[in-house]
Amino acid sequence: MKNLLSMEYLTNDEIMSIIERAREFEQGAEPKLDRSHYVANLFFEPSTRTKTSFEMAERKIGCTVIPFEAGFSSMLKGETLYDTVKTLEMIGLDAVVIRAKEDEYYRELLEGINVSVINAGDGTGQHPSQSLLDLYTIYKEFERFDGLTVTIVGDIAHSRVAKSDAIALRRLGVNVNFLCPPEWAGNFEAQYSWDGILEESDVIMLLRIQHERHDVPFSKELYHQQYGLTVEREKQMKEHAIIMHPAPVNRDVEIASELVECKRSRIFHQIHNGVFVRMAILETILKER
Ligand code: CP
Repeated sequence: MKNLLSMEYLTNDEIMSIIERAREFEQGAEPKLDRSHYVANLFFEPSTRTKTSFEMAERKIGCTVIPFEAGFSSMLKGETLYDTVKTLEMIGLDAVVIRAKEDEYYRELLEGINVSVINAGDGTGQHPSQSLLDLYTIYKEFERFDGLTVTIVGDIAHSRVAKSDAIALRRLGVNVNFLCPPEWAGNFEAQYSWDGILEESDVIMLLRIQHERHDVPFSKELYHQQYGLTVEREKQMKEHAIIMHPAPVNRDVEIASELVECKRSRIFHQIHNGVFVRMAILETILKER
């Protein structure tokens, strides 16, 4: 695997191999890389989890992390992303992890760039490393995918997590439902009420309301009442069912604040799992260089 760009391009075997390697890393396995690689994290949108988690994973597998400050780069002087990445390649980098506002920003990097590109989120497109850590979290819980039901709830039209997860989960045999306000369904067929959802779902995956991508104001209270995971709704979930959320969480909007760390919640576990998954992604890519 040279790059990680979209879940569309990963086979089920590649997904399972990353999940299995993440589990080995979590159990203490050592990386299988014969040299230190140079990597940089280029984040043109805000991030707490993904950026820090990649940097931790890079250091844990022995990479040298080259600092890159998007806000002080020559892109502010008009340099293109292509020229920026080509410059880093010529300086000697092996891989770049990129988050950018534009959907499919990586298309301009497919020709002429030899450094490996790991997509850490493209606009409202894809978030493959988040998807892989979501899959690892689900697999750790149930030891299978086939036959599970996952309901993704919230700002689906703007969510790169929903798109990435839906592609991969469906291909792995999971029944994926969507629940959201009618105007937020995007191209997905969704339900507009909780009817029947809690009784059948093994995973309730909540999504962050992406305020920065909305221009029409909405009521947080009304959203919580209609689409949020309230304490009352949590009580109706199946006994073994779990709660997920890629975070950051808008507490008391997508989920009642007191449920964020409840027994069923895997929200902070997802963040913990992400480091091992990103170690597996980086090792898979870098060992082929
Ligand atoms: N889940 C996620 O992508 O979080 P950050 O925006 O903090 O990286």
